[in-house]
Amino acid sequence: MTTRKLLLLPGDGIGPEAMGEVSKIIAILNDEAAAGFETETGLVGGAAYDAHGAAISDADMARATAADAVLFGAVGGPKWDAVPYDLRPEAGLLRLRKEMALFANLRPAICYPALAEASSLKRELVDGLDILIVRELTGGVYFGSPKEIVDLGNGQKRGVDTQVYETYEIERIARAAFEAARTRHGKVTSMEKRNVMKTGVLWNEVVSRIGRDEYPDVRLEHMLADAGGMQLVRAPKQFDVIVTDNLFGDMLSDIAAMLTGSLGMLPSASLGAVDAATGTRKALYEPVHGSAPDIAGKGIANPIAMIASFAMMLRYSFAMTREADALEAAIAGVLEAGTRTGDIMAPGCRQVGTTEMGDAVAAALRGTLAA
Ligand code: NAD
Ligand code: IPM
Ligand code: MN
Repeated sequence: MTTRKLLLLPGDGIGPEAMGEVSKIIAILNDEAAAGFETETGLVGGAAYDAHGAAISDADMARATAADAVLFGAVGGPKWDAVPYDLRPEAGLLRLRKEMALFANLRPAICYPALAEASSLKRELVDGLDILIVRELTGGVYFGSPKEIVDLGNGQKRGVDTQVYETYEIERIARAAFEAARTRHGKVTSMEKRNVMKTGVLWNEVVSRIGRDEYPDVRLEHMLADAGGMQLVRAPKQFDVIVTDNLFGDMLSDIAAMLTGSLGMLPSASLGAVDAATGTRKALYEPVHGSAPDIAGKGIANPIAMIASFAMMLRYSFAMTREADALEAAIAGVLEAGTRTGDIMAPGCRQVGTTEMGDAVAAALRGTLAA
């Protein structure tokens, strides 16, 4: 029987709460679909810092690299506000992304029809929304050097972050976006700020060339990233695939999350390059939301972003299309039936906590798999 080795990194705050609901789904797939998942659990973020003084240990880093796929919860929280910068919880996630070379972060924003009322926008603007943000994840201002605070000695300091992109980094993320568009509606919108940034000029040039030379069948348009943010809330259904850099992608995907009803709804896949010899790729799946300190420990977090991230793992790491479809259908069915966590609550619906939502999705999945 196939075995699939997963490393679970629940992290902090609502991370472990949401991850607990995925464990139910894993058990069902092992029992009813002979999925052969073998899980190990590691520490990341503040939890790892508390245990051994680093946001991820070398041992857990090695386990992440060796796993067939990693499922990540969330990191951070006020408890670690005073921790030295290099040891802060978020550094664990950044190290995973960088050392596993997970350059392509796919963030689909889908507005389930049942949730159109939960969006901050009017129903007609978001009903049926299905866009994919392809965020570059291992470059740009997140990783460029110098990155420092310099004491100027005159009572002033200078904070420096550096935005750097090289041709190959833009080429590979552009290809990821064009490939995705081919399986969707054939359109890519590239967002940068070439009007003020040299990296924006290069980004625009490289994406244009890849589109022209390799993907003439895909429609390509360019938008300045600030205008793109405006268009995302003005008329989001004009987009199919958006490709953008690390920082713009971070911000635009949080905006896109609210179009779907809640940050608690948005999953993501962080993917490395496909290894030509084995056909496999390193991958980590992570909800877009953070550790949500304001609701952590209350049992009310929405686990759907986490469960949907696992569905992306089924699809992208294991080609388990039937099971991924079944899990996504289970989520849609539960929402359709009016089961809601507080963040997506609407009049006439039944409000539940994290575990009840997980149980409802698990029950719906059993039903779908049995059908
Ligand atoms: P956040 O995403 O944690 O929370 C923003 C708001 O959305 C909060 O009001 C929260 O209650 C709500 N929310 C988020 N997820 C939810 C869910 N599943 N169900 C219901 N409501 C949900 O962002 P923040 O408050 O800006 O950051 C808190 C901490 O998380 C910070 O330390 C930040 O660095 C970290 N963070 C981590 C990740 C990650 O681990 N991938 C992502 C973003 C932020
Ligand atoms: C995200 C988060 C991370 C990011 C943080 C926690 C490092 O906001 O995944 O969207 O900025 O990339
Ligand atoms: Mn973010």
